[in-house]
Amino acid sequence: MSFDLDAIRAQFPALALTDDGTRRIYLDNPAGTQVPVCVTDAMTECMLSKSANLGGYFATSKNADTVVQAAREAMADFLNAPSGDEIVFGQNMTTMTLHLSRSIGKLFRPGDEIILSRMDHDANVWPWVLVARDLELEIRWLSFSEASFEFNLEELDALITDRTRLICVAGASNLTGTINDIKTICEKARAAGALSYIDGVQSAPHVSTDVQDIGCDFFVCSSYKFFGPHQGILWIRRELAEKLEPYRVRPAGPELPWCFETGTQSHEGIAGILATVEYFDRVGASMAGDYMDNWSQFGGRRQRLHAAMDLLFEYEKGLAENLIDGLLKIDGTTVLGITDRDALDRRVPTVSFIHANVDPATIAERLAERNIFVWSGYNYAHEVAKVLGIFESGGGVRVGPVHYNSSREIDELLEVLRSILAA
Ligand SMILES: Cc1ncc(COP(=O)(O)O)c(C=O)c1O
Repeated sequence: MSFDLDAIRAQFPALALTDDGTRRIYLDNPAGTQVPVCVTDAMTECMLSKSANLGGYFATSKNADTVVQAAREAMADFLNAPSGDEIVFGQNMTTMTLHLSRSIGKLFRPGDEIILSRMDHDANVWPWVLVARDLELEIRWLSFSEASFEFNLEELDALITDRTRLICVAGASNLTGTINDIKTICEKARAAGALSYIDGVQSAPHVSTDVQDIGCDFFVCSSYKFFGPHQGILWIRRELAEKLEPYRVRPAGPELPWCFETGTQSHEGIAGILATVEYFDRVGASMAGDYMDNWSQFGGRRQRLHAAMDLLFEYEKGLAENLIDGLLKIDGTTVLGITDRDALDRRVPTVSFIHANVDPATIAERLAERNIFVWSGYNYAHEVAKVLGIFESGGGVRVGPVHYNSSREIDELLEVLRSILAA
């Protein structure tokens, strides 16, 4: 069976909610998605029957142990990580990056260099700027083309020196939507003897992730961006983890992954992550038959998960195409990202735009009056907004469909936009 939007939508109770009789159109997804009912069920069930600390002799604690371990295995399958023990849970990507950057920084010496990108969300920029300040490291900046919205990787070659220790870059931009060639970037990092830290927050919801193929050292993402609860997830290469000094309290064990998990985790959140992966697994099993051959090297759940992501990517690409086409036809509108139909494989469906006469906040507010949810502003993509010259002018409007959105919703958005922007 192929993609079945009705079957997908039926699993997300939030999609049926109305306000004063008006249905909601959720296009605020890059900031956070709605969740399938299996996720809320799993979280409730965890709080009712698994509520205890880990490592005890009694039922609730054993149940909690089981669900946390199962969630690590599930995330390892989702990311094609070698082992569930390399999966670290935490509050969110930002907190985990701020925390881990301390341990990573300890590997470096004054004068060592790190490469940061102008395309990244501040969560993969400022933690490293702070480390660089504390440890007297040099920062070198990888910019992107304002015409193509992509990196020029020859520029990266020129930035890499024998002092390069770390390259930090996103899988996909939360503002332009560009999918970055992280595999090549990580290859270049490795060739230079440098580490690579990948912010997968905006790629993981749209693109199937294979950390072994990417060849990165760290990959971090947030499950609330891919239909799960508010949680952060980090994959860390085991050989590397063993070299890092974790910032932890004494009773917390020195072993991976516990050593990087500070204090008591949100077990209900972790149960929700497991249910999210199981949701993708069912999508894979029931709808992604055409994509299974792409991942025959995996087998089992790993194969179904990756096939599911391929299926969802193709569906979302259609939504992105309609959205971009419609925006380009509205006078005065500029899309801040890849628009070429033949290049839609190089972007996620997150589409930001500005208008010559109407400011982004007004557009978002007027859409909200029609119960169409989008974000305006620069979405913490501080460097990106500066490069694009929209930092001081209210940023852009960001429209982010995901696989539960319909083309009818995109049409409706465009119709309302045309009326707002014609005025
Ligand atoms: C690309 C990107 N990186 C990092 C973050 C921060 O994630 P978190 O909210 O989990 O800290 C976001 C949040 O929007 C993001 O879009």
